[in-house]
Amino acid sequence: MQQPEFLNVEASFSPEGLKVEIIEGLNNANACISPKFLYDNLGSHLFTAITHLPEYYPTRTEQHIFQAYQAEIAQALGENTCLIDLGAGNCQKAESLFGALKPADYVAIDFSVQYLQDVLPKLQSNFPAIKMMGLGMDFSSHLSLPSTLPAIKRNFFYPGSSLGNFSPAQAAHLLQQIKMNSEGGGLLLGVDLMKADNVLLQAYDDPLKLTAAFNLNILRVVNGLIGSNFEVTDFRHTITINHTLQRVELYLQALRDVTVSWEGGRRDFKTGELIHTENSHKYSIKSIQELLSAAGFGHFQTWSDPNHYFALIYAQ
Ligand code: AVJ
Repeated sequence: MQQPEFLNVEASFSPEGLKVEIIEGLNNANACISPKFLYDNLGSHLFTAITHLPEYYPTRTEQHIFQAYQAEIAQALGENTCLIDLGAGNCQKAESLFGALKPADYVAIDFSVQYLQDVLPKLQSNFPAIKMMGLGMDFSSHLSLPSTLPAIKRNFFYPGSSLGNFSPAQAAHLLQQIKMNSEGGGLLLGVDLMKADNVLLQAYDDPLKLTAAFNLNILRVVNGLIGSNFEVTDFRHTITINHTLQRVELYLQALRDVTVSWEGGRRDFKTGELIHTENSHKYSIKSIQELLSAAGFGHFQTWSDPNHYFALIYAQ
């Protein structure tokens, strides 16, 4: 029985480094916390719950596009390639493509190699013909692949509009690194498209308040990491649609004057003051192709849904 191989490329995110990063953000005149801290165990489950909300259209719409066009997508990517999944998580999206795509190799990359160690062995036993590998890596800062990967065409897979968390400059940097590592293959990218305000408001400030819980949970994650004393009940979830920057912005707003302290520091928040926790960039087919072109990609195949809510792009 073939077993997946595991490798932890990441030595750089020491707990100390994460602490310094969080405290720096909290001390900013405009306080911020990186969205990567949304995803502890509870946060990951809350996000999964969000994907089941009728108001949160991206996951469902992307899945429909995969299903409707899987034959075309498989033809575009070619058979017997190495599929490299960026932010693989539970590997479900890649798994849904295995039947049509039949990759020779599957490399699942995630922040947490431990999570992959839980998920990959079962996936491997369901797909014994695919050689699987789990890589623990923060690819947003640096994408480096092990030299042991086979010398075949590589197709990167970056679904879910995760790219939308990055500023255009950060996104261009990541896309450039993907292009440089693709060995004649390409990138299958899922991005969320700009749409009417009311659709975005419902999706990012849902009536069941799951997104509010997801956002507020970041304060507990931060308390755990830096020993601060944030009270979740002192803040509320709020969003803005920034039309200039084409993105939904998530914030936590102080409901009263509070002082938050941690070992070696403190920060006062005045009533109404904001902590910026996430950006979710929305694209047009034109703007995402421009971003991909700037990163060195030159050939595009695009699939979308009837409402044009979401786009799947194969870029070479
Ligand atoms: C996982 C970054 C794609 O931006 O839609 C969902 C995260 N935040 N609801 C998104 C998120 C609030 C999600 N991404």
